[in-house]
Amino acid sequence: MTNMNDFTNTFHIHVGSWNDMSERAMQVRMTVFIKEQGVPVALECDSFDAVSQHALAFDRNGKVIGTGRLLPDGHIGRMAVLPEWRGQGVGTALLGKLIETAEAHGVQTLALNAQVGAVAFYARFGFLPVGSEFVEAGILHIAMIRHLTMAKPL
Ligand SMILES: CC(C)(COP(=O)(O)OP(=O)(O)OC[C@H]1O[C@@H](n2cnc3c(N)ncnc32)[C@H](O)[C@@H]1OP(=O)(O)O)[C@@H](O)C(=O)NCCC(=O)NCCS
Repeated sequence: MTNMNDFTNTFHIHVGSWNDMSERAMQVRMTVFIKEQGVPVALECDSFDAVSQHALAFDRNGKVIGTGRLLPDGHIGRMAVLPEWRGQGVGTALLGKLIETAEAHGVQTLALNAQVGAVAFYARFGFLPVGSEFVEAGILHIAMIRHLTMAKPL
């Protein structure tokens, strides 16, 4: 079940399958997307979860405090950290671990649909906005991409 672990002083990140992670990932998503942001439950659950790698962040006591997912095609999504844990590096650790997982699986281009309020967060990791803004689940988004491999010089 476990394929990666990372520990810091106050929280740790665990990466695994939907089978292992669904209940705890949904706890965070319910709090952040459904209750805080008002995303309809029906839009929160989709068929991509079953084929994705999921990163979860846990506090010292084993309570889940954040989540994110990586689809096989390199799409990152469902990034969420509980409000009381924001601004403490949890999102950075989750995204870093998902990028590392993508690299390990040979993904060449990462993509995500960023809420416009979170563009600066992803830009710190080298993601660049592409195209026009659009509304998804009632929230303004923009697509962002990051290439993981550079073309070889001639
Ligand atoms: C976006 C989110 C996952 C970031 O998680 P986090 O744990 O707060 O992020 P970190 O603490 O690792 O932040 C790293 C840096 O990014 C900045 N940052 C975090 N969220 C940001 C945001 N929404 N916009 C701009 N900068 C942001 C932080 O200020 C911090 O900068 P600093 O190191 O200069 O202080 C979290 O804020 C969240 O769950 N938001 C609600 C759900 C959401 O919007 N998800 C994104 C969907 S696309």
